[in-house]
Amino acid sequence: MLIMDINQIKKIEKEASDEIDDTQDLNHLEQVFRKYLGKKGKLSLILRSLKNLPDKEKILIGEQSNKLKILLKEKIEQKSTQLKKTSSKDNKNQEWIDVTAPGVKILQGHLHPITKVLRQIEDIFQSMGFSVVEGPELETEYYNFDALNVPKNHPARDVWDTFWIKQDKSNPKIGRQLLRTHTSPVQVRHMKTHNPPLRIIAPGRCFRYEATDASHDIQFHQIEGLMIDKDVSLANLKGVIEQFMKIFYGKDVVMRWQPSYFPFVEPGLELLMRCDVCNGKGCSICSGGWIEVIPCGMVHPNVLRIVGHNPKNWRGFAFGMGLDRLVMMKYKINDIRLLYSGDLRFLKQF
Ligand code: PHE
Repeated sequence: MLIMDINQIKKIEKEASDEIDDTQDLNHLEQVFRKYLGKKGKLSLILRSLKNLPDKEKILIGEQSNKLKILLKEKIEQKSTQLKKTSSKDNKNQEWIDVTAPGVKILQGHLHPITKVLRQIEDIFQSMGFSVVEGPELETEYYNFDALNVPKNHPARDVWDTFWIKQDKSNPKIGRQLLRTHTSPVQVRHMKTHNPPLRIIAPGRCFRYEATDASHDIQFHQIEGLMIDKDVSLANLKGVIEQFMKIFYGKDVVMRWQPSYFPFVEPGLELLMRCDVCNGKGCSICSGGWIEVIPCGMVHPNVLRIVGHNPKNWRGFAFGMGLDRLVMMKYKINDIRLLYSGDLRFLKQF
């Protein structure tokens, strides 16, 4: 048992106060705190052994040691604020600027490869007299299918796996809504509101409800093209598209035409190009070394009739190229999903 008297407490007070005064840094101050006020500190031990003292001493010593405890806490706090102040002053005095250090590089944003290629394509078509128009991504069944000569139960509707949107019951006239599966509805919108002759391209995002793989994603971009005039022929269609491909790739690309079917064109065609990623050997984004880049055809007379132009007076061609594929070919990207990943490691390369 500790033999305690007031002197002993006085002694601790003197000792602790001196140590606090002498302390020059915060770490040491912490040690002093622990030495006297910590769980096993000198003062704490005294307070804990009070219970063994006779009542009279218990009151006296208890009172004194509690006072001392408060006093030391205050002193330590004061010292701590004082030390913090001086240490921040010291830091300021030591601060200096190294004017020879190289500057921090400012990260600069840049255009997404899809935007870059789109701008290039727009330039090419504008130079051929086409203007750029846009249509909505949220479409109606009418513009996406009906007006494009795709009858309600026609099996061709299955080709486009569609994201249907919950019906807006407050406006039943709109009909069923969907995320457009292609940019062809913009043809209809434009022909309904403009009189021929017409020459437009309509770039935009499209959506299809399908499993994703290296060459398919649920979102992608198309560029629709439409030219209507008195005597536009298949030869004009082939001429415009082949010319475009030559300017876009800057060399003679290996191309091939094959017949195809779309309800809104007659006849329907498809331009294939030899895959640039594998040089025609066959890879994850082409089929057997060939890649379908531009589906097209002569605008179906029914479509002209639906939009209110007489097919006897007007003829034209339409195409809908897959922008993503052209980007992939151009930059030799082997997975379409990379384009939409937002991954900076990928994007910084362009
Ligand atoms: N819209 C068609 C598609 O998405 C492509 C196309 C456009 C075909 C214009 C012919 C004419 O597959």
